[in-house]
Amino acid sequence: MPDSTFTPRVFSGIQPSGDLHLGNYLGAIKRFVDMQNAGDFETVYCMVDLHAITVWQDPDKLRHSTRELAAGFIASGISPEKSILINQSAVPEHAQLGWIFNCVARMGWMGRMTQWKDKAGKNAEAASLGLFGYPALMAADILVYHATHVPVGEDQKQHLELTRDIAAKFNHDYDVDFFPLTEPVIEGAATRVMSLRDGSKKMSKSDPSDASRINMTDNADTIAKKIRKAKTDPDALPSEVAGLDGRPEARNLVNIFAALNEQSVEQVLADMGGQQFGTFKPALAELAVAKLAPISAEMERLMGDVTEIDRILARGAEQAREITAPILKKTYEIVGMVG
Ligand code: TYM
Repeated sequence: MPDSTFTPRVFSGIQPSGDLHLGNYLGAIKRFVDMQNAGDFETVYCMVDLHAITVWQDPDKLRHSTRELAAGFIASGISPEKSILINQSAVPEHAQLGWIFNCVARMGWMGRMTQWKDKAGKNAEAASLGLFGYPALMAADILVYHATHVPVGEDQKQHLELTRDIAAKFNHDYDVDFFPLTEPVIEGAATRVMSLRDGSKKMSKSDPSDASRINMTDNADTIAKKIRKAKTDPDALPSEVAGLDGRPEARNLVNIFAALNEQSVEQVLADMGGQQFGTFKPALAELAVAKLAPISAEMERLMGDVTEIDRILARGAEQAREITAPILKKTYEIVGMVG
């Protein structure tokens, strides 16, 4: 089925389950802003609160994190005039299509998801049913908009392959060409930002060490200190990309520099090759503070009066439902629901 039959539309989401960090910013939000501003797509961005509660969340903290994530989106450049910004639970068609997809997806598919295996660990018996079915709801998030493109970090690749499998199985089972086979958009230098303490681990909100990540709410001093203390090796930066092989920490810092400075890794190394970390780290810290401090200041300002955020989300939900309600209605008709 050619993509051209569908309106070019981007959807992506982030869980409001803790502090936003540099990995979320470079791997996701910054690219959401670029796709919004390129003007080639309609863009819909979402706080996925229904996904967050697949592990228990304190209700007050969830409310706070959802609004703070909205503030992070807006402060980073997501414009409510150009994009639809929503909270997932405020658009009920996500959960409604999610149920249909629970009946399309197979247990075996879900059981093979590496994030399920990582998160449930050895104690799968005690994990919530929601955590197991999580990727079916994610597929619904995307397909309830007939989204054609989904920008994400590397860690979501398997979930997006499953989204295509669910769309294909639905289309096949009901003999329709209804859902698009969505394209993952995993591009740029920072699709997998690693921990500042261990170059073999992803930067993550669940890492117990706060020094492993830069939070979007960190102030300038904290950002600079975390970069100064980031793990490195004793060698100078290479002048070519191949010289980063076997040097995960060096590669990570160079990738972060490239993404923040909107350069290719090749360009960064052409400029900085030969520098010791004693010189490179302060340059990176200065760049990170210059790019991130204004965002964190704007987030703080927005959080000072959440009525503006709530108004933007209420409007976003109305706009979203103009797209999702007809797609859900048609899905129900295809499946054979009456009423
Ligand atoms: P979540 O909330 O874990 O992460 C949000 C986005 O940030 C990216 N990301 C990273 N990118 C680079 N380096 C890192 N260290 C890093 N850590 C996180 C993630 O790849 C993601 O793009 N299942 C999703 C949320 C979701 C969703 C969707 C995404 C629900 N429905 C529909 C896209 C479309 C998740 O848990 O992301």
